Amino acid sequence: MIALLQIVLLIAFACAQDPLPGVVSQYVEDFRSDFDVRDATRNDYRPLLANVVRLAFHYCVGDSGCDGCIDMSHPDNAGLDLSVDYLEDKAPAWLESGLSKADLYALAAMVAANMALGNAGWESDLSNFEIGRTDCDATEVTNEVFPDSHVSPFAFFEDNFGFTARETTVIMGAHTLGRAQVGNSGFQNFWTQNAFDLGNDYYVALERPPWRQRMVPGGSNFQWDQAPPPGRQGAPLMALNADMFLIRNVMPNQDGRENLCAGDFRDCMAAETRPIVQSFTTPQGQAQFQEEFKEVYLSMLRSAGKGLQQELQLFCDVYDCSSIDLPEIVAPEEPQIPQNPEPPVPAGPVNPPPVNRPSPPGKGAGKGAGGNGKGRRGRLL
Ligand code: HEM
Repeated sequence: MIALLQIVLLIAFACAQDPLPGVVSQYVEDFRSDFDVRDATRNDYRPLLANVVRLAFHYCVGDSGCDGCIDMSHPDNAGLDLSVDYLEDKAPAWLESGLSKADLYALAAMVAANMALGNAGWESDLSNFEIGRTDCDATEVTNEVFPDSHVSPFAFFEDNFGFTARETTVIMGAHTLGRAQVGNSGFQNFWTQNAFDLGNDYYVALERPPWRQRMVPGGSNFQWDQAPPPGRQGAPLMALNADMFLIRNVMPNQDGRENLCAGDFRDCMAAETRPIVQSFTTPQGQAQFQEEFKEVYLSMLRSAGKGLQQELQLFCDVYDCSSIDLPEIVAPEEPQIPQNPEPPVPAGPVNPPPVNRPSPPGKGAGKGAGGNGKGRRGRLL
């Protein structure tokens, strides 16, 4: 009898969870509100949210994987200061709780993706959040080689993250949410008409003809352009060669100039992954993409570099998530797409526009039309 009691006590002791650190629930609440700030000219675009999703990828690139380090002097990280600076302010209080900075980036990444996935997201912002990432040694030189925008992405993702071609096709769907700016990368415009939802717009746009290649005005880079779909106004949509490789076997040179099918992408042979892209273009395909995206994104956030994974624990296995007591957050209504069409891009060369950095959350750029408390319920935890 005593032995039985001892076993029960041992199990109870082993299962006891730590109380939830207050900073975690506070930051989930902050992220939900700050990431929803909209761009001044395009109501469906949430600059900080998109920036954080890009950061999720960039901070996981390199030999030590997702390590909380980001070399802001690296040209491929240009533009990421928006999310890096935002999270830097939040780091001291977070580190005091004993969690790593790499886990802070991961929490931001989870909340951003969950907001963009809407009802197709994880059960809650914390339900699938994993912790235990090791921070880099800031004194060590890191080896971060980012993928070339003009090169096929498959080998890169296989070598760095151990992804299959299908997983690579899925993770590239993150481009749905954002845009390129000449001042950052030498490219410009949005990938999709609806940057608000992480749905299948990226794949629908890729499959929809015509795509033609042109030199980015004022630069020496080549990108793919597509006029907005009938009835829509605004700047052309864009795709990098790296995106185009998902559907066509393009053969760009170093500057990205395509020789075979620059006038019409359909003149290049279909890529092996095109059927995957096509399958994501239907409503059922969109749901399939979203399910797969969640898995692949989590896998990316576990990276230890070179295709290996860090050993992580579910946050709610370690901490008592049931103890959380937060006011319920109400998610904003989705915007009308497009709210504010952008002016057409000039045909001739122009000077690269200055990078249009949005105001920090709470200043300047307002919330979207629905940011007044109405709309569907957001799942905070
Ligand atoms: C071959 C792989 C990839 C290449 C070559 C690539 C390249 C780029 C480039 C050139 C930009 C424009 C940056 C700027 O001008 O501000 C960009 C933006 C972006 N990328 Fe990627 N990317 C790749 C993979 C990914 C992955 C795996 C993710 C996330 C999981 C991602 C998420 C984003 C997002 C969300 C943006 C928009 C950022 C914003 O609006 O601020 N990308 N990417």
